[in-house]
Amino acid sequence: MTDVLAIRGAHHRYGAQTALDGVDLTVAAGECVALLGPNGAGKTTLVGLATGLLARQAGEVAVCGTDPRRAATRRRLGVVQQEMGFPRTETVGELVRGAAVRAGRPAAAAGPVLAEVGISELRPRRAGKLSGGQQQRVALAMALVGDPALLLLDEPTVGLDVAARRAFWRNLAQRRDAGVGIVLTTHIVEEAAAVADRVVVLHRGRVVASDTPAGLTALLTDRTITARTALDDATLRALPGVASVRRDGDRVRLGTTEPEQVLRAWLPTDHTVADLRVEGAGLEQALVALTGEPTVHEEVPA
Ligand SMILES: Nc1ncnc2c1ncn2[C@@H]1O[C@H](COP(=O)(O)OP(=O)(O)O)[C@@H](O)[C@H]1O
Ligand SMILES: [Mg+2]
Repeated sequence: MTDVLAIRGAHHRYGAQTALDGVDLTVAAGECVALLGPNGAGKTTLVGLATGLLARQAGEVAVCGTDPRRAATRRRLGVVQQEMGFPRTETVGELVRGAAVRAGRPAAAAGPVLAEVGISELRPRRAGKLSGGQQQRVALAMALVGDPALLLLDEPTVGLDVAARRAFWRNLAQRRDAGVGIVLTTHIVEEAAAVADRVVVLHRGRVVASDTPAGLTALLTDRTITARTALDDATLRALPGVASVRRDGDRVRLGTTEPEQVLRAWLPTDHTVADLRVEGAGLEQALVALTGEPTVHEEVPA
């Protein structure tokens, strides 16, 4: 299958602040990937690179094989940003028709997409006067109307009520099944698990886990942590909570009854950890264990 997004070795800094520290992320056509991680993990920066909004500093970023900084490539993208400002005077219909035309599609494409997203009745309304949840659906309609190959959504369900959330996920699932690649960030772990084919956990600008929702949910049960690392056995055995250390090819397997304790001690001190897996409990619990922080907290509004 074609990769609609291929990011390799992405590093990104804001001045002295490192936001991404060597991230790889590929998304195939028809695949939905959820980015999870605590605030400040680098999710928005990673999405910004894929949208072409941020210039890449190091590494490779390709959308459908080409640079998302090129206008022609950007037309293959549908984007819903964390903060979308809406003009006060334009109507929903005008905005979605405008988005269609900018993406090289007929203005008439707006009608079916408004219906798809369930906001046909909002067409004559001024977008700037709508509720946050309604605006979020307008943003989705604008992203979908260009018939994108890749959808990038940063915290798309903030402000949506339960029914609107459900409709939103249904819209995404339909597009995914029609072959669209999707990357979304969210802090709602259960929804990510329900909609995503793959969950990628970011922590301090690195990918600390990448697995199916089922694979991540199975984390912690066997109370075995496996990973690749440059640390030697003696150092690993000295970590608090580690009961045993075994080698399995290039992977190390740590036996423990306290995986959270081991990871909290291990991850901050070892920058060579890769392909980390913990066999055990619920997804949220696993994420806390992986990142040492709860992931479920709202983004602080600017
Ligand atoms: N414009 C910016 N200027 C300076 N630092 C930034 C800027 N944007 C993000 N950062 C920093 O980069 C890191 C990653 O941020 P971000 O990508 O927004 O993470 P997330 O979306 O996961 O919360 C954080 O430490 C954040 O403070
Ligand atoms: Mg963010």
